[in-house]
Amino acid sequence: MVLTQNFQVTLNENLSLGINETKPQKCWPGLIKRYQAWLPVSEKTPVITLQEGGTPLIPINSISHRIGKNVSVYAKYDGLNPTGSFKDRGMTMAISKAKEQGCEAVICASTGNTSASAAAYAKRAGMRCFVLIPDGYVAQGKLAQALVYGAEVISIKGNFDKALNIVQSIADKYPITLVNSVNPFRLEGQKTAAFEIIEYLGEAPDWLCIPMGNAGNITAYWMGFNEYFNAGKSTKLPKMMGFQASGSAPLVLGKNIQDPQTIATAIRIGKPVNREKALMAKEKSNGGFLDVTDQEIIEAYKLLGKEEGIFAEPASAASIAGLIKRKDEVPNGATIVCVLTGNGLKDPDCAIANNDASFYSGLEANIETVAKTMGF
Ligand code: F0G
Repeated sequence: MVLTQNFQVTLNENLSLGINETKPQKCWPGLIKRYQAWLPVSEKTPVITLQEGGTPLIPINSISHRIGKNVSVYAKYDGLNPTGSFKDRGMTMAISKAKEQGCEAVICASTGNTSASAAAYAKRAGMRCFVLIPDGYVAQGKLAQALVYGAEVISIKGNFDKALNIVQSIADKYPITLVNSVNPFRLEGQKTAAFEIIEYLGEAPDWLCIPMGNAGNITAYWMGFNEYFNAGKSTKLPKMMGFQASGSAPLVLGKNIQDPQTIATAIRIGKPVNREKALMAKEKSNGGFLDVTDQEIIEAYKLLGKEEGIFAEPASAASIAGLIKRKDEVPNGATIVCVLTGNGLKDPDCAIANNDASFYSGLEANIETVAKTMGF
């Protein structure tokens, strides 16, 4: 493949977000090139990219109004990454570093998004990609992606936690690189979302609301916010507000869950590997963890779609559901960012089963019938 080693990043930080329209801009180079000074890469690192990152921070006014108190709520819509989730931020780093180290195959356990992303980047790098998924609990869109990207998919009778145990043992024993969020390069890539938020707002937000599964992403955001804060690019750090689904809330309950359950299959995880780091982020930021029920998740999911025109997957809606649930604690005038981690198209079954739309099907194909149905 063509590597972009010589690509000159000419964007300055404002231009990178498309704010200055007076000068012609090169297209977004992907997050490794954009943030190379902040990442463990060198001239020798082959950059495997699908031009991930640079996702929009969208004001979500109907949610701001719901919270009241003059707050400004934004969605960091990471479902607009190349494979439709934030995992691409981590995967461009994990796969580029694996390639640099001469690796020929990667493996991961996944509730779906990691497998889609790992497969896309691994294939782009000319590697084999093995994915272990919990049988029957991966949304259709995600499975479709892994298959189309050419992953070797192994579906096990067991949940994500069991799958992760297995892939960790396999990666210990055999010459294959693990690309779950225990791989430190994953978090390095994912931290760049925090950089983008600070660049866009000109400051860190007061709250960051984020869904948690294996708790890698909250850890990565906290790293990113701290690095920019320490470099003087922001004057404060956000409170890290992490949300889990009630049926799989080990971080909220403070104990592992043997049989996690939730409609938000992406975060159906009972034993998060990044537990300690996530707890540290909560403590240091004076933040909080809370669970939200499946019903609250679906309410938020529907609100995002029908009031904001944003189609996020159920796990992502947990960040909105959580904010609504904690609205009494929100300070006046706060700036709040909710991370929308995955695209709604990933889980069409959930969408079709959970919406308030009017859907008149199978009508006769004539003007009168259609007009009458429309109320004319
Ligand atoms: N949101 C979505 C859409 C996810 O796919 C995940 C995790 C999370 C949130 C939670 O992120 O694990 O860093 O706390 N998905 C993993 C996967 C587990 O296999 O795709 P986390």
